[in-house]
Parts: sequence; structure tokens; C-alpha cells
Amino acid sequence: MKNLAPSPPANFLTGHLNGLRKDVLGLMLAGTRDHGDIVRYRIGPLTIHLVNHPDHISHVLVKNRQNYDKQSRSSAALRLICGESLLTANGPSWKKRRRIIQPMFHREAIEGFLETITKCTNSMLDDWSEKASKGEPIEVASEMMKLTFRIVGLCLFGTELAREAETVEDAMHTLVSHTYSQYQSIISLPAFLPTPANLRFKKALAEVDEIVAALITSHRGNPPAVPDLLTMLLEGKDAETNEQLSDQDVRNEAIAFLLAGHETTANSLAWSLHLLSTHPETADEVATEFIQTCGTAPPTMADLPALRKALQVFEESNRLYPPIWAMERRAITDDEIGGYHIPKGSGVIISPYTLHRHPDFWQDPETFDPTRFETHDHPAYLPFGAGQRFCIGKEFALAEARIILPSILQRFKIHPLPGQLAEPEPAITLRIKNGLKIHLTPR
Ligand code: HEM
Repeated sequence: MKNLAPSPPANFLTGHLNGLRKDVLGLMLAGTRDHGDIVRYRIGPLTIHLVNHPDHISHVLVKNRQNYDKQSRSSAALRLICGESLLTANGPSWKKRRRIIQPMFHREAIEGFLETITKCTNSMLDDWSEKASKGEPIEVASEMMKLTFRIVGLCLFGTELAREAETVEDAMHTLVSHTYSQYQSIISLPAFLPTPANLRFKKALAEVDEIVAALITSHRGNPPAVPDLLTMLLEGKDAETNEQLSDQDVRNEAIAFLLAGHETTANSLAWSLHLLSTHPETADEVATEFIQTCGTAPPTMADLPALRKALQVFEESNRLYPPIWAMERRAITDDEIGGYHIPKGSGVIISPYTLHRHPDFWQDPETFDPTRFETHDHPAYLPFGAGQRFCIGKEFALAEARIILPSILQRFKIHPLPGQLAEPEPAITLRIKNGLKIHLTPR
């Protein structure tokens, strides 16, 4: 008799679908609290295991990774947008892409993006000054979304996206919302059926495709003087085989960057600002550190290591509110984890949201305490994933955070609006339900 992992009570037909839809974070926290480090859930006919111990996670992502691929429901949903790409590919196709793309995120490349990050942030802050002088609050969640989209768009496509940015941004939001609602239903209606939602999705995808295709054509014909990420995608070669990416591959990877590279960082920054607005003494420390390190000059790569407090705040924010709150894998063959049978074809979920609250590894897990990250030894911490498929944009995101957060705080004191709740809303990334407004006063 196979030893199946424990499972909370479920509906005979739909399994845990209702609970997952209503409050997936609550369901997972209760599951690990009541049943331990491996919990079995059912969505209709699908079995999914939540794995919540660093040893078991390391088994899935590192030691026995060849048995766990991304032929998962979430990956299938993302494929509708960015097709076969670094985010969604498996096996040799993923390896080739990672070899070609990895150099684009090396130190020198990140260094080249710092100026764009600083410029975009300062131009946003000039707008904020005007609003602040009229006493208007700032809608931080959407401002961060616009800012990180602008940054990734400029780093990816050079200056050319400026005109089309709004179209692409709106279209990307339609794509992401549609994808998440498809993911949430057991049976999604096929994409070819002309339902209103499918038609909106198709239109948005066509808009993004048209703009990206035009950018690829113009970059091929007339490469920009300062290479952007798109140029690097077009010119990048696999060091082992000398292979290059096709136009279709470049389209898929560019859209994957837009997708993976803005909403994650935007939510991280918005959550960080929520925490800083409710911890003004920490906000003061972040501002002082920035002024002492950079003075009035724009931050450079050499300054980043000294911006420790800013990094600790971002790390603690990513612990409490990890933008990627769940990662999904599929078991290729039967396996055993922690003494429990993991059947071939079943799903495995790793949730940084529950892991980062594991009482055996975190003291007072709900308390905001950036000093936890004065040390780096945190086995139960993986906001950027782990193993071969860890986030390729991690250093990019950490650079953005260390520039954007202190740039805001050195110009303004930030105050929460009275009575405003910041509740997590899990979509593809962990958003703040109903956004977040803050008041600014000049520093
Ligand atoms: C705070 C910001 C970010 C967070 C928390 C984050 C988190 C993650 C996580 C957890 C994964 C692994 C997913 C898995 O194993 O299933 C991942 C992968 C990835 N991320 Fe990020 N990410 C962030 C920013 C970025 C940025 C800025 C970019 C690009 C500009 C990016 C591009 C990617 C890509 C392409 C992958 C797939 C890598 C692969 O499978 O080889 N991410 N990210």
C-alpha cells in the first residue's frame, strides 16, 4: 500500500477547488499547520502536493530535478502568451535558451541598465512632487507597475517603446488576467471558441505581437548604437553550439521578459513601500544610507553593496509577500518525498509564502524585521526560486530595488492613509488587493 500524503477534507467531485478559489493562501497555511510539510490537494481529477520543507524543496528543485519539469498547468497558461521560452521550456530547449540569455544579465549588463532605472525613477518622482504639493495621495501599486514596465521596456527595446508603451502595458494586463482566470478553472474553454474573454485575449496578444514584430524588424535592419536586450537576444549565440535564436524565439523571449520582469518587481516594491510607510524609522535609515553613499550623484554599481538597509528591507518584504507565491512542477515518474508517495503526473507546488512563515525556521514570522537579513543563512527562503531555474533577473531586480526605494525616501516621507488595509491578493503574482495609496511630505 502506497503511503499517500495527508489531505484536508475535500468535496467529492471538485476536491479543494472552492477553497483554492476563495482563499488559496489561507488554505495552504492551514494545510501545513494541520498536516505538516507535505500536503495533498485535489482539483477535480488533478492531484497536487504542497511541499513545505527546505529538504523536500531541495529534492524537487535540485537533487532529483530531472524528475520534475514545468509541464504544469501554470506553465501551460503562460505558454498561451509567450510560447516556448525560458519561462516555460523544458529539457534541451530550456538549456539552450538559458546558455544564450544568461550573459545578458551579467554584472556589466546590469551596470548598463542603472542609468535607465535612475532616469525613469526621477521622472516619476517629479510627477509625484506636483501631486504632493497639491496634497494628493499617490496610488503606489499602479505607479510601481508603470515604472517597472517602463524600465524593462526601455532596457529591452531601447527608446522605441515609449510611443507604444501604453498599448503594450494594457494588453499585457489583459493577457495576465485572462491567463490567471483560465488557470483557476478546472476546465477552461478552448482558446479558439469566440467567447468575449477569448476575443479580448486574442486582440491583446495580436497588439503585443504586432509591436514586438515591428521592433524586431527595425532592430535587425538598423541595430541601435547602444545595444539593448533585444539586440542581445538577436545577436546572442549558444557558446556550445554557436546556435542563435530564431525571430519566433526572440519574440517569445522578449514577451517573457516583459511578463516576468515588471509585475514581480512592481509588487515587491509596492509591498516594500507599504512596510516602510508603517515603519518610518526604517524608512529614515534607508534614506540616510542612500544620501551618505551616493550624495547627489546617480547611484553606480560600486555603490550598490553599501545600500545594505535598502536590500534588507526588500528581502524582508519578499519574505512576507513573495511576488511569486507559488512555483509549480510535474512529477515525470513516481517518486517518494519525506516517506510519501508522489505519483507520476501529479503536481508539486512550492510556496515561498508558506515556506517564509514556517515556524521551525522563522521566529515571529508575521513581524516585519529587516535585521533578519543581516545574516545570509536562511534555508527556508527562496523568493527567486532555487536550482537550475532560479530567477535570471534577480540581480536586475535587486539593483532596481536599491535605487528606487531610497530615491523615493530621500525626497519624501511616506505616510499610510488612515484605516487602509494592505491585503495580499494572489494572482499570477502577489498583488495588494485594491492597491495602496500613500501620502507624501517633502523630506
Ligand atoms: C522581485 C522581482 C522578481 C522575483 C521575486 C522573481 C521571482 C522568480 C522566481 C521565483 C522564478 C523561478 C520560477 C520557478 O522556478 O518556477 C523566476 C524565474 C524567472 N524570472 Fe524572475 N523574479 C523577479 C524579477 C525578474 C526580472 C526583473 C526578470 C527579467 C528582466 C525576471 C525573469 C525571469 C525569468 C526569465 C525566469 C525563468 C528562468 C528559467 O526558468 O530559466 N525575473 N523569477
